[in-house]
Amino acid sequence: MIKLLVGLRDWVDARLPIMRAWDTHMGKYYAPKNFNFWYFFGVLSLFVLVNQLLTGIWLTMSYVPSAEAAFASVEYIMRDVEMGWLIRYLHSTGASAFFAVVYLHMFRGLMYGSYKKPRELVWIFGMLIYLALMAEGFLGYVLPWGQMSYWGAQVIVSLFGAIPVIGPDLEQWVRGDYLISGITLNRFFALHVVAVPIILLALVVLHLLALHEVGSNNPDGIEIKKNKDANGIPKDGIAFHPYYTVHDIVGVVVFLFVFCAIVFFAPEMGGYFIEYANFEEANALKTPDHIAPVWYYTPFYAMLRATTLEWFGLSSKFWGFVVMGGAVAIFFVLPWIDRSPVKSWRYKGLATKIAIPVFAVVFLILGYLGAIPAEGTFLGMERKAAAQYLTIVYFAFFFLMPIYTSLESTKPVPERVTMR
Ligand code: HEM
Repeated sequence: MIKLLVGLRDWVDARLPIMRAWDTHMGKYYAPKNFNFWYFFGVLSLFVLVNQLLTGIWLTMSYVPSAEAAFASVEYIMRDVEMGWLIRYLHSTGASAFFAVVYLHMFRGLMYGSYKKPRELVWIFGMLIYLALMAEGFLGYVLPWGQMSYWGAQVIVSLFGAIPVIGPDLEQWVRGDYLISGITLNRFFALHVVAVPIILLALVVLHLLALHEVGSNNPDGIEIKKNKDANGIPKDGIAFHPYYTVHDIVGVVVFLFVFCAIVFFAPEMGGYFIEYANFEEANALKTPDHIAPVWYYTPFYAMLRATTLEWFGLSSKFWGFVVMGGAVAIFFVLPWIDRSPVKSWRYKGLATKIAIPVFAVVFLILGYLGAIPAEGTFLGMERKAAAQYLTIVYFAFFFLMPIYTSLESTKPVPERVTMR
C-alpha cells in the first residue's frame, strides 16, 4: 500500500512539483526560532478562514436569499435543520473570532515592525485582506435580514450618497433600488458567498507567497537570513515542519477551547456578536432606537459619527466618510512612515514605546464609544467631543511617526535572536 502511495506521489511529482512546494513552504522553510505568543495569530487566521468557508457552504444549503424568505430561513436553520444552530453559531462567532485574531495579528506587526523592508508587500496584501474582510463581514451581516441587517446596510450604503456629484447615482447603483430591498439582499448574497471569498483566498495565497519569499520577521526584528551556517541554513532558523506545525497545533487547541466556550455558552455575546435587534425581521418602516455596527467596526464608526467638519461646503457625512476611510487606509503607508533604523519596538526609543500602547488604548476606547449611543457623557465629557479628541490622537500616531521614529534614540540590535 505504502509502495503504491509513494509511486503515485512520484508520478504526480514528475508532472507537478509537489515535493518542491512542500520543501519551500514547510520542510525546508526556516522560520526564526524565537517566535512567541503573538506569532500564533497568523495560523489562527488561516484556521478561522477555513471554518468560515466550511460553515458558510453548509449555511448556504438551507439559507434562502430573498426579502420574503431570508429571515425565516435563518430561523429554520436554527430550529429545524440538523445541527443547523451549531453551523450558524460557528459562522457568526467565527466572524468575530476572525476579526479578533486578525487585529492581534496586525498589532504584532506594529510591535515588531513586520511591515518594514523587505516585508512591505506582505503588509500591503495583509491590508487588502483586511479590507476584503471588512466588506465580507458587512455583506454577511445583511443576509439574516433582521432589523440591524437592514438599517446597518441603510447607514453604510447611504454614505456613498454623500460623495459630491456622483454620490446619489452611486448609492442607487450599489443598492440596485431606491431603498434597501430584496434586490440589494440578492446581490449582497452573491458578493458574500462568491466574489469576496475568492478575492480573500487569492489574497491569502499572495500574502503567504510574499512572506515565504523574504522569510518571517521575529520579535527581535533580526533578519535571520543574514547569518547562515555552512549548509546555507539560517543559524537562528528551524524547519517549519515539524517544529512549527506541532507548535501551532497547541495554539489551535487552546483557541478552540475559548472559541467553543463562546459558541456553546455565549454565541450572541450579550448583543456584541449578534445584536438583539437582529432577532426581529427587517422592517423598512421602523428604525431601531440605536443603530450600531458589530464591535469590529465600532472604532471607525465612532470616528464617522464624531466628524462635524463641513469644509468646502461639503456635508459632515461626507467628511465623516473620508475620516473613516482615511483611518483604515493610513495603515497602508506604515512601511514608509516608520523611519526607525530598527524594526522591533524592543530596540526602538521611548516615544514608540509610549505611542504604540497609547494608540491601542485609543483604538479600544473609540471602539467602546462607537458601540454606545452618541448622546451622553464619557468620563464627564460629551461623548462626541471625546471621540473627536481620540480621533486626533489616532491620526497623530501616524502623522507624527516619521518624526518620532527618526528622532528617538534606539538600542543596538543583537547579532542573534534572543529567546525571551
Ligand atoms: C485572512 C487573514 C490573514 C491570514 C490567513 C494571514 C496569515 C498569515 C500567516 C499564516 C502568517 C505567518 C505566521 C505569522 O507570522 O503569524 C502571516 C504573517 C504576516 N501577516 Fe498575515 N494573515 C492575514 C491577515 C493579515 C493582515 C490583515 C495583516 C496586516 C495588515 C497581515 C500582516 C502580516 C505580516 C506583516 C506578516 C509577517 C509577520 C512577521 O513575519 O513578523 N496579515 N500572515
